[in-house]
Amino acid sequence: MNDPTVHRPVFARMYPRLSRALDRAGGHELRHRLLEGLSGTVLEVGAGDGGNLPHYPPAVTAVVRALEPEPRLRRSLREAGARAAVAVDVVDGVAERLPIDDGAVDAVVCSLVLCSVRDQVAALTEARRVVRAGGQLRFFEHVRGTDPRTVRWQDLADRTVWPHIAGGCHTGRDTVGAIEAAGFTVTRMERFRFPDPGFPRLPHVLGTAVPS
Ligand SMILES: C[S@@+](CC[C@H](N)C(=O)[O-])C[C@H]1O[C@@H](n2cnc3c(N)ncnc32)[C@H](O)[C@@H]1O
Repeated sequence: MNDPTVHRPVFARMYPRLSRALDRAGGHELRHRLLEGLSGTVLEVGAGDGGNLPHYPPAVTAVVRALEPEPRLRRSLREAGARAAVAVDVVDGVAERLPIDDGAVDAVVCSLVLCSVRDQVAALTEARRVVRAGGQLRFFEHVRGTDPRTVRWQDLADRTVWPHIAGGCHTGRDTVGAIEAAGFTVTRMERFRFPDPGFPRLPHVLGTAVPS
């Protein structure tokens, strides 16, 4: 497979401001919950401008790969990595082809990224490949709703404007189903709307999955 390039200059310019606004609306706490209890080595997929980096607990020895394919966001990620308490190796790369050996890390972290990858099956197959036996996948993602009304507007948004204005994001993917289909068992998960209050109050999940 050729690596897909990710070049989204408009989104990359907007995202840091949007991300900090979401952090103030509760995202800080969610990022903390996403990462709490982790230890050892981590690969973070589509790390953006580094919103998770301040939240890694001290028991994480290194983010051995902080992957970010979008050039402008990767520059911001490098700056955030230089300020972070944890050691961070920022690299260009995509979820669909992770630049690391099989079973190389204690954890893979995905936050707000499985909505945007071009090939979710390939991305999660890769996550499963690189996490060691006994390791874990941590995820914080917005997902397909559980009620017909939400699913209807998600399908409409995803078929029309949303991916174009939101950096390739899709609001309504069945990400939990895809995580399980890739060979993980979800061991802990919370479902909630976020931001709450706020727009667009998308259904989200935050949880842990382990290799089945
Ligand atoms: C909504 S942002 C989330 C950034 C960060 N994870 C966070 O929590 O703030 C989505 C990120 O996914 C990245 N991305 C898009 N397609 C990707 C792919 N195929 N592989 C890896 N990252 C990708 C984007 O460049 C962007 O940084």
